[in-house]
Amino acid sequence: MAVGVFDSGLGGLTVLDAVSKRLPQVPFVYFADSRHAPYGVRDADDIYALTTAATDRLFEAGCDLVILACNTASAAALRRMQEGWVPRDKRVLGVFVPLIEALTERRWGDNSPPREVAVQHVALFATPATVRSRAFQRELAFRAIGVDVEAQACGGLVDAIEEGDMILAEALVRSHVDALKRKMPNPEAAILGCTHYPLMEEVFQDALGAGVKVYSQANLVAASLADYLDRHPDMYGPGQVPGFLTTGDPARVSHHATQFLRRQISFTAA
Ligand code: DGL
Repeated sequence: MAVGVFDSGLGGLTVLDAVSKRLPQVPFVYFADSRHAPYGVRDADDIYALTTAATDRLFEAGCDLVILACNTASAAALRRMQEGWVPRDKRVLGVFVPLIEALTERRWGDNSPPREVAVQHVALFATPATVRSRAFQRELAFRAIGVDVEAQACGGLVDAIEEGDMILAEALVRSHVDALKRKMPNPEAAILGCTHYPLMEEVFQDALGAGVKVYSQANLVAASLADYLDRHPDMYGPGQVPGFLTTGDPARVSHHATQFLRRQISFTAA
């Protein structure tokens, strides 16, 4: 029954929370590669090596389907993994596509040509590696035309959240929003393109202003996953036991995770 959820650290817990609420019967195994976070400052080869190692560990834990609840890994490693690494009886899915489908108001699996959509000025907040990959713009171009995307690499933000330094995290969000607004004064929509950022969603919304629609991934990914599992019930893995694995210090990671999700979370060593 088990399904794996991977992130470099705590950000993917925002996705885990939503998928667990949507699919309460599924035992999810969460993997936080805390020792190697943040991924956003690493190069693509490094991100690929770390993401494949973590995904292997989730396969070992009885998950046949693994969600990369990490935009940086989805942007820098997923396509390469799907093209040559994922075993035939396993699946690895990323978190970009559901978000882009929501933004472009498309239904899952709509492969018609790209067309004009309601929003034209979109701000993308993501890690330096995700911004550098241009994966978001590439996926968007398959589905929409005439959308102007201005990307802001939010250096330092994942580190601050992982450290639990929310004062620094808030200051960084406000300064990255200011920097974005200097390039694009009036975005209509903003994408939180890193699964850590929903933990700061209120600050993003406040800094952007009430008129800007903020898209974050958790609920969109949960709806897509439920739909996917409906269509592919064979992708429930043999694992029965939910759990939280980390490559970092389990006590420390559990402490921060418990603070973020406001419920007791106990990580064990991966
Ligand atoms: N949560 C990851 C993401 O969605 C954070 C990446 C990082 O470790 O820098 O991109």
